[in-house]
Amino acid sequence: MPEFRLTQISDTHLARRLPELTENFHRASEYIDARRPDLVVNTGDLAFDGPTSPDDLEFARTLHAALPVSCRYLPGNHDIGDNPTALGPKPSPPVTEQSQQAFLSIFGEDRWRFDAAGWCFIGLNSLVMNTGLAREADQFDWLAAELASAGGRPVALFLHKPLYLNLPDDPELAADAIRYVPMPARRRLVEMLRAVDLRLVASGHVHQRRDFTYSRIRHVWAPSAGFIISDARQEVIGIKEVGLVEYRFQPDSFEVRHVRAPSQTDLDMDSLLARVSKGLAS
Ligand SMILES: [Fe+2]
Ligand SMILES: [Fe+2]
Repeated sequence: MPEFRLTQISDTHLARRLPELTENFHRASEYIDARRPDLVVNTGDLAFDGPTSPDDLEFARTLHAALPVSCRYLPGNHDIGDNPTALGPKPSPPVTEQSQQAFLSIFGEDRWRFDAAGWCFIGLNSLVMNTGLAREADQFDWLAAELASAGGRPVALFLHKPLYLNLPDDPELAADAIRYVPMPARRRLVEMLRAVDLRLVASGHVHQRRDFTYSRIRHVWAPSAGFIISDARQEVIGIKEVGLVEYRFQPDSFEVRHVRAPSQTDLDMDSLLARVSKGLAS
């Protein structure tokens, strides 16, 4: 029986000036090397600060290229900037044509589709949504065509931001609007996905591990492979730990395993930022 093994990593936030994050990436790499899945997907925030430090994107690309299995990539807000929301603060920095091109020139794609083990896999650029940029409309057109050719296969969707907290119609709140795919793009996306047999939505961004099922769709929030965010800075929704997620897809079914690579360490964002500002000051 055909089987497709996929490992999801997310929020690696790599930068040459932050060797602790590189260490955590190496621990994840060693685990991947031992397990040898068919594919690694990084669901975004590959870089620590791509929009202002383009070298972070290059550095992330170099480390991923050294993995012993093929990789696919999706952009996060720390790679290309953030998307505007109706209620939240203005994104800083916002997604621009230029930042998207910088990502594309290094990683080659910001959305993808492939089929394996009887499944249709789709990766989306969630940061372009709600921006009004040409690539947003272009992506929706592309997605419509890809969904139309799913041919009844179960669909697994990957993107940086979770679709929503608990329900598709969760109200957008100023306090956490930037955490999810923003309205009204979310509504349009959810509506489009109703036309196919969507089984899995795999995201990153929140730096918390979570796994829940709503209306027969399993939502897996991958933790960051690099660091956690303190309770003082961010509410607790799922589990705050670093790690990765393993999937096994077989025709009409799939399994999920939540794992942490040996010696992967729960670094805290506050201590990382303190070291960066110290480095900048010196
Ligand atoms: Fe992140
Ligand atoms: Fe993010």
